[in-house]
Parts: sequence; C-alpha cells; structure tokens
Amino acid sequence: MCGIVGYIGKKSAVDILLEGLTNLEYRGYDSSGIALNIDNKVQLYKAAGKLQNLKNIVEKNYSEISKSTIGIGHIRWATHGAPTIENAHPHSCNCGKVAVVHNGIIENYKELREKLEKNGCTFRSQTDTETVAHLVATKYGETHDLTEAVRLATKEIEGAYALCVIHQDVKNTIVATRRNAPLVVGLGDGENFVASDVPALIQYTKKAMYLDDNQIVTLTPDSIKLIDIDNNPLSQKVETLPWEPVALSKMGYKHFMLKEIHEQPDVVRNVLSGKLRAIDENITLNEVTLDKDKIKDLNRIQIVACGTSLHAAMVGKYIIEDFCGIAVDVEPSSEYIYRKTITDKNTLVIGVSQSGETADTITAVRQAKCKGSHILIITNRPDSTMAREADSLVPVNAGIEVSVAATKSYMAQLISFYLIAIYIAEVKNSMPANELADLKHELIVLPQKIEKVLAHKEDIQKCAKAFSSSKDFIFIARGINFPTALEGALKLKEISYINATGYTAGELKHGPIAMLDESMPVLSILMSGKVYDKILSNSEEAKARNARMIALTDSEDEKLNELFDYIIRIPEISEILSPALSIVPLQLIAYYIAEFLGKDVDQPRNLAKSVTVE
Ligand code: AGP
Repeated sequence: MCGIVGYIGKKSAVDILLEGLTNLEYRGYDSSGIALNIDNKVQLYKAAGKLQNLKNIVEKNYSEISKSTIGIGHIRWATHGAPTIENAHPHSCNCGKVAVVHNGIIENYKELREKLEKNGCTFRSQTDTETVAHLVATKYGETHDLTEAVRLATKEIEGAYALCVIHQDVKNTIVATRRNAPLVVGLGDGENFVASDVPALIQYTKKAMYLDDNQIVTLTPDSIKLIDIDNNPLSQKVETLPWEPVALSKMGYKHFMLKEIHEQPDVVRNVLSGKLRAIDENITLNEVTLDKDKIKDLNRIQIVACGTSLHAAMVGKYIIEDFCGIAVDVEPSSEYIYRKTITDKNTLVIGVSQSGETADTITAVRQAKCKGSHILIITNRPDSTMAREADSLVPVNAGIEVSVAATKSYMAQLISFYLIAIYIAEVKNSMPANELADLKHELIVLPQKIEKVLAHKEDIQKCAKAFSSSKDFIFIARGINFPTALEGALKLKEISYINATGYTAGELKHGPIAMLDESMPVLSILMSGKVYDKILSNSEEAKARNARMIALTDSEDEKLNELFDYIIRIPEISEILSPALSIVPLQLIAYYIAEFLGKDVDQPRNLAKSVTVE
C-alpha cells in the first residue's frame, strides 16, 4: 500500500518519478505527489485522485519542474486522513525545507504529534507521516546532518515504514530507510534510484540492493552509503534483477488483467519447468529444504494467506489431504494472528502470497516461526519480505502481475500446490504411482486446455454481457471447486462492484435460497466427478425458485440444456485438477462484466495490490 520513489542524478527527475509512480500505481491510487529541489528550493506538487491529475499539474509547469535532477514521489492508499491534497505526500515541516514520502503506518504518531506541536510545529494534514517531516526537521536543526537526522528520527518512530527524505540545504542527497515495509535501491551510472518495488526502477537499471529493516541509505548521484540504526557502516549485496521492462507493457491488450489471464498457459509451463520432468520421474523440489524424515513425521499442516491466495490455499488443503493423508488447516492470516494457535515443530506452516508483502501473512508466519514450525513460503516475489522469513521458498514464477485483481498468480499458486502435494506424496509413498503419473500427465497438457478456453472467449463474453446489469450474483460448487466459487465471486466483486458470493451448493437450502428469484443469477460449477449429481440437484432447486441459471461444466450432457439458460463448456478434466481450468472462464466473466460496465478494471476503487497494513 502506497508506493514511494526517489531519483538523484543528471536527468530530469520529474520524468523518472512519474514513470516510476505509474509503475507503482497498483500499490494505491487515492492521491499522489512529488517533491523536487528547483533552484535550491524544495517544491511540492500534489493532486487528489488518480495519478493523471498530478501529471496534468506537472504538464502545465513542465519547463520549470523539469530543471530538477533530484526528487521523491508518492502514490497513496489512504490509511490516516482522507485522500485529499492536504493529506497527499510528500509532507513537509514548518520551514518547508524537508520533504518526506512514506509507506506504512507510524503507530505512535499521536504522541509524537502532541510533543512536536508543543515545540511549535504546525501540522497541515491528518496523516501520521507529517510527524516524520517535523521530527526530521527538528533533528536536522540539532545535527545539521540529514542522515543523522533521519537515523535519530527512526529511533523515536514506532510502526512500519519505508521513508525517503530530502532537505533543501543538503543538495544532491536522498536519505531512505525502512522497517517492515519494502524498499529497494537501484544503482545507475552517475544516478541512483530508490523505490518501494522493482517496477519503478526496471526501465533504468538492473542492478539493485534490497534494504533490510533498520538500515539507512544515503544516496548521491555517485555514491551509496549504508549504515544501521546504531550508525555502524554496512555493505550490502548488489543483485541483478531478473525482470524485463516488457513485463510492464500491456502487449496490445486493453487491460493488464486480460493480458495476465492470457499468460496463464505459459505460467503453468513455467511453474512445471524443471520440477515435473516426466510422468515416471519423481517431482524435483529443491526449494523444499525440510528433511524427508521430517516430512514423514509431519502430523499437521497449517496454511495462512489472504484474499485470492487464501482461495489457492483452500484448494491446496483438498489436494494435500487427498494425496498425503496429512490434516491441513487453512486460515485467513488476519484471524490466525489474534488467537492462541496450536503450532509446533511437527507442524509445517505454509504462507501463500503473491506480493510477499501482505502484513497479516508476514505476522502469521513470524508467529509460527517463533513456535518452531518449518516455514514454507509460496510467493511470486522471491525478493519480498515474506520470502526472507522462509525456511523453504517456493517461487511461483508468474512474472510481475500488474492488475490489482490477481489471476495468473492464482494459477501459479495452484500449480505449486499440486507439485508440493505430489512431492510429499512421493516422499511418504501415500499415493499409487499410476495415479500420480496420470495427474502428472494432466498437468503437462493443462496449458493446452487453458488455451482452448481462451480461444472460445467470445461465448463467455456473450454470457457476461447478458448478466452485466445484475446487482447480485451467486456462485455455487462443492468439494474442490468450492474455493473456485469463492474466487470467481471475489474477482467479480472486486472489479465490477457487484455483490457476488460463493456458496457450497449444499448450503444453499440452509438460508441463501431465500434470496433467489428471477433477478438472481446462479452460476453452478458443475465439473465431472463425485459431486456432479449433487450440484445438479442443487441447481434444480435454484431453478425451481426462478433463478437465472448458468452452468460452467466439462460435461457434454444434453440434459443441461433444459436446466440452464447459459452453458459455458470447457475441456474435460479430472476433478482433482479441475480448479486450475474452471477458474479461467470465471476470471473472464468478471473481466468482461467490469469492462461492459466501464469500470477501472486494473485499478478498482478502494483496493491496493500489496496490502502492507494489518
Ligand atoms: C486479489 O485479486 C486481491 N486483490 C487480494 O485479495 C489479494 O489476493 C490479497 O490482498 C492477498 O495478497 P497477496 O497474495 O499479495 O498476499
């Protein structure tokens, strides 16, 4: 939540800052701002609403603004204070010489503010961040050293932060620091960068340095100096970023979400690559460092995650219990962290997160780690905070996901769960080899089946159009596709704002059926397998209440034509693997409905891709 970026060098800072903020827009888009040093004066430019509003302001003053070669920028997802211009970052101090951008939450900001106000600081916003600007200015007044001022300020700040600071009197310097919020430094030739995330830097450099908590970095165009909070000098590993700038292009698609849906066949191939070599060979998972004897001794697995990752985890539970005979609990991270959880060294705790920066999941895995559990992290960002907590790290290799609504990362998480479950089953010898071989074969041909679904997207588009005026939507399923129903509903509500809910089909008659009438669409996920007939009869019950019925099925059964108003047919697939195929049409339905409604598909209101606050 919130993105920060800083540039110092010889080029016009404003272009680089705006480009960086554009690529960080997935982190928030309530308001934005930049601070530049122009003719030896720190100048702030801010706008409420979308980044385009800031770009419009910049355009009007471009000849003046483009002179500056140092600056910091921010894109906001509001936590403290409404998304107004006053609350937009950067924030400044009384004299206006300090500018600060911040991602995170300063937990003791009320006490700090009270103290600073008593000392004569005048606050202009309701934000927690403004306290940092006044605090740094106060410390600078005492030390006349910007790095030292930031260091002393961080000693008084409690909470989570990534901060970038400039000072009018300290030309050619940016000071940045972090605690429980991501920050990466990009190293250039005669220029340096700092940002919340790699997409803001990747156009300019592939050399990067990830900061650890409580480290403070001082950037000039030609140098980078790193210290810890106690002023000890540090050296930091410079890494080569694996990302390509092309990952940030829509490649001709109207939205990133549509592009990312279409990338899923290749994502499956990527995840399988090097791990599933042949159907008669064991899975290779070098990333899992848990001893094979310990795997055999595991009596429990707990999976923690949020949102879409939680739905992937729910599918993971079905697969692992089925293949490995180990009890699996799945819990939203935000619930796991506020109760007495029974976790020990014989429990494997799996954290699932696209971003690897979700605050609740980070806290959950840290708690489990303290209790001695082995921590396995499934993430799309091996460079993330969560990845650093991992004993075993399974990177899902989906590539940068820009759209706030997760699609390809969900697919990659699902495939990772199949691989992990097969791996454990092979270690424990808990599944017949021929059944595992069948599944491996199905995994190998899965990308072609997804391609077939994508090739027939016009039918899905027609169905989406027919239901785009619905105010509510119900998805029903049973068994391993219940999480698919939840994920289909989540996709629809987050990008179209339709009140969509996923139910286990068997629960419908215990309450939700009361809502059914001719205005209510019910989408039945009707995949061949042991619960097919049950869902069919639950669909009959819904039809009898006049609901508008849609089937998503791999069955060719002609009888379905009478019961359903629309039928979305997908290739035949085994029940156990079906969640990895049945989700694709649901992603497309959500996408096309949102598009028909003219919604902001890639940046839905009130959301941020990376939820770094609890
Ligand atoms: C997905 O479409 C959502 N935007 C959201 O639910 C997301 O899955 C959730 O915030 C968890 O994020 P993570 O996977 O990065 O931890």
